[in-house]
Amino acid sequence: MDNILVTGGSGFIGSHTVVELLNAGYGVIVIDNLSNSSKEALDRVEKITGRSVKFYKEDLLDEEALCNIFNKENISSVIHFAGLKAVGESCKIPLAYFDNNITGTINLLKVMEKHNVKSLVFSSSATVYGKPASVPVKEDFPLSVSNPYGRTKLIIEDMARDIYNADKSWDIALLRYFNPIGAHESGEIGENPNGIPNNLLPYVAKVASGELECVNVFGDDYDTPDGTGVRDYIHVSDLAEGHIKALEKLSSNPGLVTYNLGTGKGYSVLEIIHSFEKACGKKIPYNITDRRPGDIDMCYADPGKAKEELGWVAKRDIDKMCEDAWRWQVNNPKGFC
Ligand code: WQD
Repeated sequence: MDNILVTGGSGFIGSHTVVELLNAGYGVIVIDNLSNSSKEALDRVEKITGRSVKFYKEDLLDEEALCNIFNKENISSVIHFAGLKAVGESCKIPLAYFDNNITGTINLLKVMEKHNVKSLVFSSSATVYGKPASVPVKEDFPLSVSNPYGRTKLIIEDMARDIYNADKSWDIALLRYFNPIGAHESGEIGENPNGIPNNLLPYVAKVASGELECVNVFGDDYDTPDGTGVRDYIHVSDLAEGHIKALEKLSSNPGLVTYNLGTGKGYSVLEIIHSFEKACGKKIPYNITDRRPGDIDMCYADPGKAKEELGWVAKRDIDKMCEDAWRWQVNNPKGFC
């Protein structure tokens, strides 16, 4: 049984991917510094799957600790989620983002190379496309970033491409996520942001639960059907399943491959609010406010390459995403306590 090292495996996407890895029969080792997640998530993962997870509370900035893990464990591939991920915060503390995300990744790649582990799935983001000239977005679209968080993702992608060009024995899958939302259907794990959520879905869920007063819709004068921002929301379990398909692809030694993981459908802010009202059975109050700096009108994927080369397609629709997100919110009003 192959053992997969998952960095950031107690986070939102990480924990959902660990569920699917265990269900697929992989052994899983998680390294996480718990700076933005809870060990409770992994306890819930073990409850959901009936399988155990090896956990190391370590930081990728501690190269010696990383080395010790690679010496101790028989790792066949790495899925790398660990990183700071708030766009707004990254504009305030860019150096912390560069150090944590890039230095941490350099350490990981150096230790992988030293132990001849050259199979990597990297958690990239549609943010590397910047403001796409058109939609749907394809993998060969121009790349441009406008914030330090997005820059760390693009720099890491560029490092991966350079490493592969220098040493073709690496197998690397760069997965560009669109907007992951929802929660595992058990309601045991889900999105657990610290403080007031930056992202739309967890904010809407907290308004639905009464914890927050009303949704601020950031602008209704975009060039979209109802004027509010349009994004490609994808169920986090669909996204997790995409990682299993990417691992299978790496076992065929494809070299460096890049895939959009999205549904190929765009939904507006107001459509999300209305879908969530159906899920929770309540009206959700909202105000139209000014645009949020840096936001773009529309972004959704052309997921055709992942379908053709990975045999992966997102299966869950927007109502399922909202139903599962609401179940998580109702079952865990304070997140992982
Ligand atoms: C979605 C839409 C907002 C909050 C971000 C990161 C991206 C990725 C996913 C990591 C937009 C609107 C939002 C609110 C609102 N993260 N909105 N009121 O900005 O598309 O992407 O998360 O990889 O890198 O940039 O997601 O959920 O913040 O916004 O009206 O309170 O909802 O304007 O149109 P975004 P989001």
